[in-house]
Amino acid sequence: MIDFYLNGKRQRCDGVPADTSILELLRTHLGQTGTKEGCASGDCGACTVAIGEPGDDGALRYQAANGCITPAHQLDGCHLVTVEGLARGDALHPAQAAMVECHGSQCGFCTPGIVMSLFTLHEEQRRTPAPLSQQRLEEVLGGNLCRCTGYRPIRDAALSMNDYPDTHPLWADDPDLASNVAQLRAAKAASRSGGHYVAPRDLAALRQLKAERPEARLVAGATDLWLETTQQLKALDDLIDVRQVAELNAIEETPQGWWIGAAVTYSRLEPLFEQHYPAFAHLLHRFASKQIRNRGTLGGNVANASPIGDSPPVLLALDARVSLDGPDGERELPLGDFFLDYKQTALGANEFIRAIFLPRPSETQNLKVWKLSKRREDDISAVLGAFAWRLEGGVMRDVHLAFGGMAAIPKRAAGAEAALEGQAPSADTFAAARSALAGDFQPMSDVRGSAEYRQVAASNLLERLRLMIDTDNTIDAEVTLHAYAH
Ligand SMILES: Cc1cc2nc3c(=O)[nH]c(=O)nc-3n(C[C@H](O)[C@H](O)[C@H](O)COP(=O)(O)OP(=O)(O)OC[C@H]3O[C@@H](n4cnc5c(N)ncnc54)[C@H](O)[C@@H]3O)c2cc1C
Ligand code: FES
Ligand code: FES
Repeated sequence: MIDFYLNGKRQRCDGVPADTSILELLRTHLGQTGTKEGCASGDCGACTVAIGEPGDDGALRYQAANGCITPAHQLDGCHLVTVEGLARGDALHPAQAAMVECHGSQCGFCTPGIVMSLFTLHEEQRRTPAPLSQQRLEEVLGGNLCRCTGYRPIRDAALSMNDYPDTHPLWADDPDLASNVAQLRAAKAASRSGGHYVAPRDLAALRQLKAERPEARLVAGATDLWLETTQQLKALDDLIDVRQVAELNAIEETPQGWWIGAAVTYSRLEPLFEQHYPAFAHLLHRFASKQIRNRGTLGGNVANASPIGDSPPVLLALDARVSLDGPDGERELPLGDFFLDYKQTALGANEFIRAIFLPRPSETQNLKVWKLSKRREDDISAVLGAFAWRLEGGVMRDVHLAFGGMAAIPKRAAGAEAALEGQAPSADTFAAARSALAGDFQPMSDVRGSAEYRQVAASNLLERLRLMIDTDNTIDAEVTLHAYAH
């Protein structure tokens, strides 16, 4: 049974198939059709809803998610807010009032999703008011496409929300809502329900389930997995959800670095990356959309083993390790040994990824990550280069050059690395590295770029690295167009 609150009211939904999405639950089972389906693949944001879970202080924190690719069973013990739950009778929520006044809607198809993204921004602002920078607006709205209005009026609506009366939704009057949701979560944790969608709470239970149901698929944020049902129409009828396994949700700091639980979402990782790996943090701004980053995990990105996944090249450049676990025990291996061939990994039949280890960067380590994609927001890489190195006595040391989009797996460029290791970063050295790079990879052609484009682009990224080092980082301007500033 999925037991949750919808716009303040308790809902108990029985017999919901494992592969039902939130969108389907709302529209088909509950008759709530305000939330729209545009693409059913997490790209357009028309289906955006807000999922509330209790924070450390007990208050509910609302995060935007794509209803079309979020499993309905993940609502268990949550408060779901949809576009139907914002207005207070005839009084519109500030997100809605601002959209009306700024003419932020034409056909209206994208509007419920945009309003829900603005609702999460409004909630954040209410909790911790902060200036609405260009970057913040882009982050909030980057996962919402509008085909007809244009973003200017929508941006104006976001900027003017605070000028409208702060109409609270009716459910916000209930002083017990947060504690009721918390109690429900606790009760669900104790009940350990079975069925075709199970959500173990600890490692021991996960190991046991893996032993009992070796065929079951694992699901974390579902931002890759769910496309198998919405796009390929595959049945996902036996699922083990790892999102609530306590050990997979931990970030453990050691003197050598951080063990990041496989089910930790990108949104939770942002502060750690901002502090210790700014180049990785910068990449996150270009990684999918806020809706996806709120649900997607590092573990899912690595397990998915896509050659164009964004985090694996960065993790390879940083010498990350991976901890695999299962009924037969735990083992650890360098991430480079995890990817075997296209979508083939070293994971054994009953194993899962428990955590990923990120070594603490030394003071002299440099890291640069450059992602090339057709669109700046919410797009998958054509080529991604992640480069780590140190400069010691005028020569390059510990050079790690990892690429995505250049081979069947994310991979380091062994030849190019050898050409740079122990050498001064001169034009000649880099020319040798670029020649070696041509032998390191035989990329393929696809919709994101031809093989030739990829070779040239990867080589150019090395040249960019040289120029950056040569000019002492003074030309290190990142490419940031202001999409909403016209
Ligand atoms: C619109 C959109 C945009 C995207 N943009 C990007 C992008 O810019 N860059 C990028 O790299 N990716 C992108 N993705 C892909 C996706 O968001 C990431 O790969 C994400 O990290 C997957 O994590 P998840 O938790 O959602 O994994 P899930 O979808 O839950 O799982 C992915 C796979 O990993 C397996 N799995 C999950 N957890 C474990 C575990 N602990 N152990 C073993 N196996 C496990 C699942 O069984 C499944 O096969 C995008 C996806 C969408 C829909
Ligand atoms: S319907 Fe397009 S993101 Fe969900
Ligand atoms: S108003 Fe038509 S898609 Fe946005």
